[in-house]
Amino acid sequence: MERPIDLRSDTVTKPTPAMRRAMAKAEVGDDWYNDDPTVNLLQDRCAEVMGKEAACYVATGTMANEIALHLYCRGGHLVACESRSHVSGVEVSSAAAMSGIAFRGTLAPHGQLTAEIVEGLLERDPYNVEVVDLLSIENTHQIGGGTIMPIDELRAIRKVAQEAETPVYLDGARIFNASVASGTPVNEFAAEVDTLMFCLSKGLGAPIGSVICGPAGVIEEARRLKILFGGAWRQAGIMAAAGLIALERGPKRLHKDHANARRLAEGIADATPEALEEPELFETNIVFAKAVEVGAKPFVLLECLRQAGVLANVVGGKIRFVTHLDVTTDQIDETIRRWPSVVRKARKREERG
Ligand SMILES: Cc1ncc(COP(=O)(O)O)c(C=O)c1O
Repeated sequence: MERPIDLRSDTVTKPTPAMRRAMAKAEVGDDWYNDDPTVNLLQDRCAEVMGKEAACYVATGTMANEIALHLYCRGGHLVACESRSHVSGVEVSSAAAMSGIAFRGTLAPHGQLTAEIVEGLLERDPYNVEVVDLLSIENTHQIGGGTIMPIDELRAIRKVAQEAETPVYLDGARIFNASVASGTPVNEFAAEVDTLMFCLSKGLGAPIGSVICGPAGVIEEARRLKILFGGAWRQAGIMAAAGLIALERGPKRLHKDHANARRLAEGIADATPEALEEPELFETNIVFAKAVEVGAKPFVLLECLRQAGVLANVVGGKIRFVTHLDVTTDQIDETIRRWPSVVRKARKREERG
């Protein structure tokens, strides 16, 4: 059977032949002792790229976020963020279970906080009962549609946070997508936050791994927490070798993913304007199409897509498509070609009940 077109996430990519070669010959040691030369090289390189003093390589974006939240936020205190952020959505129970942390969230258009919104979020409770220890930003914002927080907005937010004496953390799982699409170097985004994480395992194409970058003292404590949370992964240099290639080569090809995503958004908008009104909103590698508006329940539409050989996801009640390293423009055109009959089939299924 023909392989499906896999648009579920940018995490589904397979390591490239160059990554496989580098993994096979990676020099390794025990990362518990900070002894793995390839992990150490990757950490140094990540810190350099981000313009931060140090970096800590961990298994997942979730682990990176949870270490960072634990670093900055006391149990019983709050992290301020946009309500649909990964930290306060998918990870809300992790933060509660691992750190006793709750969130003060607010909905912002397309997931994008502004300095004005942040001012409200960080307003001090006169009774000092609700204490916000950290502001967390997500750039690009996944549920917002891979939207970018422009550097000027981040600078304005940073100023507001400084006035409130609140440190700023960046969940930059896809910060390289934001950088490539906006033309702002990643270190300029990084300069406006105290600490950040980014994922090697998403658009950059590595099989595994995320990296926390920040001040040396903070990263030293992050390494302790990594062990505490069960993340000391011994000869991780095998993975770090692929991470080094992802870091070097990944950003150079992200513009292709963005062009494919826009092409898909425009194709869906042409065929079914009720599913997708403004294709220009999708600036990076994530596209959302509405389901109910085309007359189908999201999971019915998802199943019809799967039967047509296209894999996607339901996120926030919409169909989410993500472009990546292993998706070609031909596959995007094929998805656009199949979309109208998928929608017709899903509608019919709904009518039959
Ligand atoms: C914005 C954002 N942050 C963090 C994560 C968590 O990354 P991981 O799946 O590696 O735990 C994701 C995963 O999709 C994400 O989209």
